[in-house]
Amino acid sequence: MSCCNLLCAVIGILLVLRLPHNSPFPKTNSDPLAFITPDQIRNLRRPSPYIGLESIPRPVPPIPRSLVNFPQIIARVDARQTDLVFDDDPLRYMTNMGMVSPEERKVHVSNTVSTLFQFRAIDFGMESCELVIRFTTPEFKMNSFPLSLYRLEGNSTLNTKILSHNNRPTRTGHVGDIQVTSSGHSVQWNTTFACHWDELLLFELTCAGNDEESPKKYQDTRCEVEWWQGKKDKDPTNGVFIVQHATV
Ligand SMILES: *[C@@H]1O[C@H](CO)[C@@H](O)[C@H](O)[C@H]1NC(C)=O
Ligand SMILES: *[C@@H]1O[C@H](CO)[C@@H](O)[C@H](O)[C@H]1NC(C)=O
Repeated sequence: MSCCNLLCAVIGILLVLRLPHNSPFPKTNSDPLAFITPDQIRNLRRPSPYIGLESIPRPVPPIPRSLVNFPQIIARVDARQTDLVFDDDPLRYMTNMGMVSPEERKVHVSNTVSTLFQFRAIDFGMESCELVIRFTTPEFKMNSFPLSLYRLEGNSTLNTKILSHNNRPTRTGHVGDIQVTSSGHSVQWNTTFACHWDELLLFELTCAGNDEESPKKYQDTRCEVEWWQGKKDKDPTNGVFIVQHATV
């Protein structure tokens, strides 16, 4: 649904651009369409396809329903190499048919690297979001360390072709800390918040010691977690994902 809206909007723009001299937009320097960048096209707002749905009578409390929403973007930044832009398609490979880009993305959190997750809330009346973080710590890790989760300013789609530590969106809040205790231990953490349809949600998972203002003991603790994350498993053992729950 929302894909079609976006596509229709893009096709609309292309049609207008192709209009001959009787175009309603004068072909001058003030032509607004001449200045549309790929970034702006990616960030076009979508009109709600759910017209009138809110006026349909429904049972109270709502019938429990949920859906799993995976991040649209998973991207890393490195605080020691502040201009480094990570490869955003590291598993791509060439076949006879052309380039294949597997959906798996690397999640990596270390004393310098943090991972950003961008979600878009979807569907009508599913506006309670439960962010879930699950992973198993590697066997060889003996120390314990905390990870921190931050909410970032995220009202536009991340551009992974240019994203680096230097230009990452600013933090707007600390969501929580996730204590990683012993080796081979499975960590399961979640938090619930309200989310609107089509809202972009951007989070950063980082080691608690990565901030200049964090206690020295954290900065000296070795902190390392990594896994590859795909979108196929609806109940993954390793992953950062959102479970959206029915609110109507
Ligand atoms: C995104 O948020 C920032 C700060 O909250 C604001 O200045 C900017 O105008 C917003 N952009 C859009 C496209 O809403
Ligand atoms: C979130 O945490 C609660 C309490 O720890 C747990 O019962 C629930 O199953 C978790 N949710 C998910 C989706 O794992």
